[in-house]
Amino acid sequence: MTNNTSNPDLRLFDLSGRVAIVTGGGSGLGRSFAMALAQAGADVALCARRRDKLAESARLLADTGRRVACVGMDVTDEASIASALAEVTDTLGVPDILVNNAGINRPMYATQLTMADWDAIVDTNLRGAFMTAQAFAKQPQRAGRGGSIVNVASILGIRAQKSVAAYMASKAGLIHLTHALALEWARMDIRVNALLPGYFRTDITTDFLDTEEGRKLVAHIPMRRPGNLQELTGPLLLLASPAGSFMTGTVVIADGGHLLSSL
Ligand code: NAI
Repeated sequence: MTNNTSNPDLRLFDLSGRVAIVTGGGSGLGRSFAMALAQAGADVALCARRRDKLAESARLLADTGRRVACVGMDVTDEASIASALAEVTDTLGVPDILVNNAGINRPMYATQLTMADWDAIVDTNLRGAFMTAQAFAKQPQRAGRGGSIVNVASILGIRAQKSVAAYMASKAGLIHLTHALALEWARMDIRVNALLPGYFRTDITTDFLDTEEGRKLVAHIPMRRPGNLQELTGPLLLLASPAGSFMTGTVVIADGGHLLSSL
Protein backbone atom coordinates (compact mmCIF):
# COMPACT_ATOMS: atom_id res chain seq x y z
CA MET A 1 0.00 0.00 0.00
CA THR A 2 1.48 3.38 -1.02
CA ASN A 3 1.22 6.61 0.96
CA ASN A 4 -0.22 8.55 -1.99
CA THR A 5 -2.77 10.89 -0.39
CA SER A 6 -4.53 12.11 -3.55
CA ASN A 7 -7.49 10.46 -5.27
CA PRO A 8 -8.96 8.21 -2.60
CA ASP A 9 -10.03 4.95 -4.23
CA LEU A 10 -13.75 4.53 -3.53
CA ARG A 11 -13.65 1.10 -5.15
CA LEU A 12 -12.30 -0.01 -1.77
CA PHE A 13 -15.95 -0.30 -0.72
CA ASP A 14 -16.81 -2.45 -3.74
CA LEU A 15 -17.91 -5.97 -2.83
CA SER A 16 -18.33 -7.35 -6.36
CA GLY A 17 -17.51 -11.04 -6.46
CA ARG A 18 -17.90 -11.43 -2.69
CA VAL A 19 -20.44 -13.54 -0.85
CA ALA A 20 -21.98 -12.23 2.36
CA ILE A 21 -24.09 -13.93 5.02
CA VAL A 22 -26.48 -11.89 7.13
CA THR A 23 -28.03 -13.72 10.08
CA GLY A 24 -31.46 -12.44 11.06
CA GLY A 25 -31.72 -11.04 7.54
CA GLY A 26 -35.52 -11.16 7.45
CA SER A 27 -36.20 -7.90 9.28
CA GLY A 28 -34.91 -4.68 10.79
CA LEU A 29 -31.21 -3.98 10.73
CA GLY A 30 -30.44 -7.33 9.08
CA ARG A 31 -32.62 -6.54 6.06
CA SER A 32 -31.00 -3.14 5.75
CA PHE A 33 -27.49 -4.64 6.06
CA ALA A 34 -28.34 -7.18 3.35
CA MET A 35 -29.50 -4.37 1.06
CA ALA A 36 -26.30 -2.38 1.70
CA LEU A 37 -24.09 -5.38 0.94
CA ALA A 38 -26.00 -6.23 -2.25
CA GLN A 39 -25.89 -2.60 -3.42
CA ALA A 40 -22.13 -2.68 -2.87
CA GLY A 41 -21.96 -5.68 -5.21
CA ALA A 42 -22.03 -8.74 -2.93
CA ASP A 43 -24.16 -11.82 -3.43
CA VAL A 44 -26.10 -12.22 -0.21
CA ALA A 45 -27.36 -15.15 1.85
CA LEU A 46 -30.22 -14.19 4.14
CA CYS A 47 -30.15 -16.61 7.05
CA ALA A 48 -32.78 -16.95 9.77
CA ARG A 49 -35.66 -19.09 10.94
CA ARG A 50 -38.69 -17.32 9.43
CA ARG A 51 -38.67 -18.22 5.73
CA ASP A 52 -41.56 -15.86 4.89
CA LYS A 53 -39.60 -12.89 6.27
CA LEU A 54 -36.47 -13.95 4.37
CA ALA A 55 -38.48 -14.16 1.15
CA GLU A 56 -39.78 -10.59 1.74
CA SER A 57 -36.19 -9.36 2.15
CA ALA A 58 -35.14 -11.25 -0.97
CA ARG A 59 -37.88 -9.53 -2.98
CA LEU A 60 -36.59 -6.14 -1.85
CA LEU A 61 -33.07 -7.07 -2.88
CA ALA A 62 -34.12 -8.27 -6.34
CA ASP A 63 -33.54 -4.86 -7.95
CA THR A 64 -29.86 -4.90 -6.99
CA GLY A 65 -29.30 -7.64 -9.59
CA ARG A 66 -27.19 -9.62 -7.14
CA ARG A 67 -27.74 -13.30 -6.39
CA VAL A 68 -29.72 -13.75 -3.17
CA ALA A 69 -30.29 -16.98 -1.23
CA CYS A 70 -32.78 -17.53 1.58
CA VAL A 71 -31.38 -20.12 3.95
CA GLY A 72 -33.05 -21.49 7.07
CA MET A 73 -30.78 -21.08 10.08
CA ASP A 74 -31.27 -21.11 13.83
CA VAL A 75 -28.18 -19.56 15.43
CA THR A 76 -28.85 -21.41 18.69
CA ASP A 77 -28.46 -24.77 16.93
CA GLU A 78 -24.98 -25.86 15.87
CA ALA A 79 -26.25 -28.42 13.33
CA SER A 80 -28.51 -25.83 11.73
CA ILE A 81 -25.57 -23.40 11.39
CA ALA A 82 -23.38 -26.09 9.79
CA SER A 83 -26.03 -27.06 7.26
CA ALA A 84 -26.82 -23.41 6.48
CA LEU A 85 -23.16 -22.65 5.79
CA ALA A 86 -22.92 -25.69 3.54
CA GLU A 87 -26.06 -24.57 1.67
CA VAL A 88 -24.71 -21.02 1.23
CA THR A 89 -21.43 -22.40 -0.10
CA ASP A 90 -23.22 -24.72 -2.56
CA THR A 91 -25.59 -21.99 -3.74
CA LEU A 92 -23.47 -18.81 -3.81
CA GLY A 93 -19.91 -19.90 -3.06
CA VAL A 94 -17.65 -19.69 0.00
CA PRO A 95 -18.78 -16.73 2.09
CA ASP A 96 -16.29 -13.87 2.51
CA ILE A 97 -18.35 -11.77 4.92
CA LEU A 98 -20.42 -12.74 7.94
CA VAL A 99 -22.72 -10.24 9.61
CA ASN A 100 -23.67 -11.71 12.98
CA ASN A 101 -26.86 -9.72 13.32
CA ALA A 102 -29.44 -12.18 14.75
CA GLY A 103 -30.43 -11.05 18.20
CA ILE A 104 -33.29 -10.95 20.67
CA ASN A 105 -34.25 -8.91 23.71
CA ARG A 106 -36.87 -9.50 26.40
CA PRO A 107 -37.00 -6.36 28.51
CA MET A 108 -37.89 -6.99 32.15
CA TYR A 109 -36.42 -6.20 35.52
CA ALA A 110 -33.67 -8.53 36.70
CA THR A 111 -35.79 -9.87 39.56
CA GLN A 112 -38.35 -11.08 37.01
CA LEU A 113 -35.91 -12.57 34.52
CA THR A 114 -36.28 -16.35 34.41
CA MET A 115 -33.35 -18.57 33.58
CA ALA A 116 -35.24 -19.55 30.43
CA ASP A 117 -35.25 -15.87 29.37
CA TRP A 118 -31.58 -15.50 30.28
CA ASP A 119 -30.65 -18.61 28.30
CA ALA A 120 -32.67 -17.58 25.25
CA ILE A 121 -31.06 -14.13 25.13
CA VAL A 122 -27.50 -15.26 25.80
CA ASP A 123 -27.85 -18.33 23.53
CA THR A 124 -28.93 -16.17 20.62
CA ASN A 125 -26.88 -13.01 21.06
CA LEU A 126 -23.60 -14.43 22.34
CA ARG A 127 -23.37 -18.20 22.02
CA GLY A 128 -25.10 -18.06 18.62
CA ALA A 129 -22.74 -15.38 17.33
CA PHE A 130 -19.77 -17.42 18.51
CA MET A 131 -20.97 -20.67 16.96
CA THR A 132 -21.66 -18.96 13.64
CA ALA A 133 -18.30 -17.17 13.63
CA GLN A 134 -16.51 -20.40 14.49
CA ALA A 135 -18.28 -22.35 11.75
CA PHE A 136 -17.40 -19.56 9.27
CA ALA A 137 -13.72 -19.50 10.34
CA LYS A 138 -13.40 -23.30 10.31
CA GLN A 139 -14.85 -23.85 6.85
CA PRO A 140 -12.28 -26.04 5.11
CA GLN A 141 -12.59 -23.92 1.94
CA ARG A 142 -11.62 -20.82 3.98
CA ALA A 143 -7.88 -21.65 3.88
CA GLY A 144 -6.01 -18.75 2.28
CA ARG A 145 -9.16 -16.73 1.58
CA GLY A 146 -9.51 -14.67 4.74
CA GLY A 147 -12.78 -12.99 5.57
CA SER A 148 -14.53 -10.30 7.52
CA ILE A 149 -16.91 -10.82 10.44
CA VAL A 150 -19.07 -7.97 11.72
CA ASN A 151 -20.66 -8.63 15.11
CA VAL A 152 -23.71 -6.47 15.68
CA ALA A 153 -23.48 -5.57 19.36
CA SER A 154 -25.09 -2.49 20.91
CA ILE A 155 -24.25 0.60 22.93
CA LEU A 156 -25.92 -1.38 25.75
CA GLY A 157 -22.78 -3.53 25.70
CA ILE A 158 -20.97 -0.50 27.11
CA ARG A 159 -23.54 1.63 28.94
CA ALA A 160 -26.30 0.57 31.33
CA GLN A 161 -30.06 0.81 31.27
CA LYS A 162 -32.69 -0.73 33.54
CA SER A 163 -34.64 -3.86 32.56
CA VAL A 164 -32.21 -5.30 30.02
CA ALA A 165 -29.65 -7.11 32.18
CA ALA A 166 -29.30 -10.26 30.09
CA TYR A 167 -29.23 -8.29 26.85
CA MET A 168 -26.53 -5.95 28.21
CA ALA A 169 -24.46 -8.90 29.44
CA SER A 170 -24.80 -10.67 26.08
CA LYS A 171 -23.74 -7.60 24.10
CA ALA A 172 -20.84 -6.80 26.46
CA GLY A 173 -19.75 -10.41 25.99
CA LEU A 174 -20.05 -10.07 22.22
CA ILE A 175 -17.79 -7.01 22.25
CA HIS A 176 -15.06 -8.79 24.19
CA LEU A 177 -15.55 -11.94 22.11
CA THR A 178 -14.83 -9.72 19.10
CA HIS A 179 -11.47 -8.81 20.66
CA ALA A 180 -10.65 -12.47 21.37
CA LEU A 181 -11.48 -13.69 17.87
CA ALA A 182 -9.71 -10.76 16.19
CA LEU A 183 -6.57 -11.61 18.10
CA GLU A 184 -6.66 -15.31 17.25
CA TRP A 185 -7.82 -15.11 13.66
CA ALA A 186 -5.68 -12.24 12.33
CA ARG A 187 -3.13 -14.85 11.20
CA MET A 188 -5.86 -16.40 9.05
CA ASP A 189 -6.62 -12.96 7.59
CA ILE A 190 -10.07 -13.02 9.15
CA ARG A 191 -10.94 -9.58 10.50
CA VAL A 192 -13.45 -9.45 13.34
CA ASN A 193 -15.05 -6.16 14.33
CA ALA A 194 -18.08 -5.01 16.29
CA LEU A 195 -20.69 -2.53 15.17
CA LEU A 196 -22.49 -0.79 18.03
CA PRO A 197 -25.75 0.78 16.96
CA GLY A 198 -27.53 3.17 19.25
CA TYR A 199 -31.32 3.25 19.02
CA PHE A 200 -32.95 2.49 15.66
CA ARG A 201 -36.66 1.95 15.15
CA THR A 202 -37.22 -1.79 14.42
CA ASP A 203 -39.39 -4.67 15.75
CA ILE A 204 -37.08 -5.00 18.74
CA THR A 205 -37.30 -1.34 19.84
CA THR A 206 -40.46 0.20 18.45
CA ASP A 207 -42.75 -0.62 21.41
CA PHE A 208 -40.20 0.81 23.83
CA LEU A 209 -39.51 3.97 21.81
CA ASP A 210 -43.23 4.78 21.86
CA THR A 211 -43.44 4.70 25.67
CA GLU A 212 -42.96 7.72 27.90
CA GLU A 213 -39.63 6.23 28.97
CA GLY A 214 -38.64 5.77 25.33
CA ARG A 215 -39.41 9.41 24.52
CA LYS A 216 -37.32 10.51 27.50
CA LEU A 217 -34.48 8.34 26.27
CA VAL A 218 -34.58 9.88 22.79
CA ALA A 219 -34.45 13.33 24.39
CA HIS A 220 -31.10 12.30 25.91
CA ILE A 221 -29.58 11.43 22.54
CA PRO A 222 -27.43 14.45 21.63
CA MET A 223 -28.86 14.30 18.06
CA ARG A 224 -32.40 14.09 19.59
CA ARG A 225 -33.62 11.23 17.38
CA PRO A 226 -33.23 7.49 16.78
CA GLY A 227 -31.08 6.54 13.80
CA ASN A 228 -32.36 5.79 10.29
CA LEU A 229 -31.38 2.32 9.16
CA GLN A 230 -29.49 3.72 6.15
CA GLU A 231 -27.18 5.47 8.62
CA LEU A 232 -25.62 2.08 9.41
CA THR A 233 -24.68 1.43 5.78
CA GLY A 234 -21.42 3.39 5.86
CA PRO A 235 -20.20 1.88 9.14
CA LEU A 236 -21.12 -1.64 7.98
CA LEU A 237 -19.39 -1.32 4.61
CA LEU A 238 -16.29 0.14 6.22
CA LEU A 239 -15.93 -2.98 8.38
CA ALA A 240 -17.06 -5.51 5.77
CA SER A 241 -15.09 -4.24 2.75
CA PRO A 242 -11.41 -3.83 1.85
CA ALA A 243 -11.79 -0.19 2.97
CA GLY A 244 -11.32 -1.53 6.50
CA SER A 245 -8.49 -3.91 5.63
CA PHE A 246 -6.29 -2.84 8.57
CA MET A 247 -9.16 -2.77 11.08
CA THR A 248 -9.66 -5.74 13.35
CA GLY A 249 -10.84 -6.00 16.94
CA THR A 250 -12.35 -2.52 16.71
CA VAL A 251 -15.67 -1.18 17.86
CA VAL A 252 -17.50 1.20 15.53
CA ILE A 253 -20.28 3.19 17.16
CA ALA A 254 -23.24 4.74 15.33
CA ASP A 255 -25.49 6.26 17.98
CA GLY A 256 -26.06 9.98 17.35
CA GLY A 257 -23.69 10.71 20.24
CA HIS A 258 -25.78 8.70 22.72
CA LEU A 259 -22.75 7.24 24.53
CA LEU A 260 -21.67 10.80 25.28
CA SER A 261 -24.92 11.75 27.02
CA SER A 262 -24.32 12.92 30.55
CA LEU A 263 -24.68 10.46 33.41
P1 NAI B 1 -35.29 -7.62 14.70
O1 NAI B 1 -36.08 -8.35 15.72
O2 NAI B 1 -36.00 -6.96 13.57
O3 NAI B 1 -34.17 -8.55 14.08
C1 NAI B 1 -33.59 -9.64 14.74
C2 NAI B 1 -33.50 -10.77 13.76
O4 NAI B 1 -32.84 -11.88 14.37
C3 NAI B 1 -34.90 -11.25 13.34
O5 NAI B 1 -34.95 -11.32 11.94
C4 NAI B 1 -35.01 -12.63 13.94
O6 NAI B 1 -35.77 -13.51 13.18
C5 NAI B 1 -33.54 -13.04 14.00
N1 NAI B 1 -33.32 -14.10 14.98
C6 NAI B 1 -33.67 -14.11 16.28
N2 NAI B 1 -33.34 -15.28 16.83
C7 NAI B 1 -32.75 -16.01 15.86
C8 NAI B 1 -32.20 -17.33 15.81
N3 NAI B 1 -32.19 -18.14 16.89
N4 NAI B 1 -31.67 -17.76 14.65
C9 NAI B 1 -31.69 -16.97 13.56
N5 NAI B 1 -32.20 -15.72 13.53
C10 NAI B 1 -32.74 -15.27 14.68
O7 NAI B 1 -34.43 -6.55 15.51
P2 NAI B 1 -33.27 -5.56 15.04
O8 NAI B 1 -33.47 -4.33 15.81
O9 NAI B 1 -33.17 -5.48 13.58
O10 NAI B 1 -31.97 -6.28 15.63
C11 NAI B 1 -30.90 -6.75 14.83
C12 NAI B 1 -29.64 -6.74 15.67
O11 NAI B 1 -29.29 -5.41 15.97
C13 NAI B 1 -29.79 -7.47 17.01
O12 NAI B 1 -28.61 -8.19 17.28
C14 NAI B 1 -29.97 -6.32 17.99
O13 NAI B 1 -29.55 -6.67 19.29
C15 NAI B 1 -29.07 -5.28 17.36
N6 NAI B 1 -29.35 -3.91 17.76
C16 NAI B 1 -30.52 -3.29 17.44
C17 NAI B 1 -30.72 -1.97 17.82
C18 NAI B 1 -31.97 -1.24 17.47
O14 NAI B 1 -32.07 -0.06 17.86
N7 NAI B 1 -32.91 -1.80 16.75
C19 NAI B 1 -29.72 -1.24 18.59
C20 NAI B 1 -28.53 -1.98 18.87
C21 NAI B 1 -28.35 -3.26 18.46
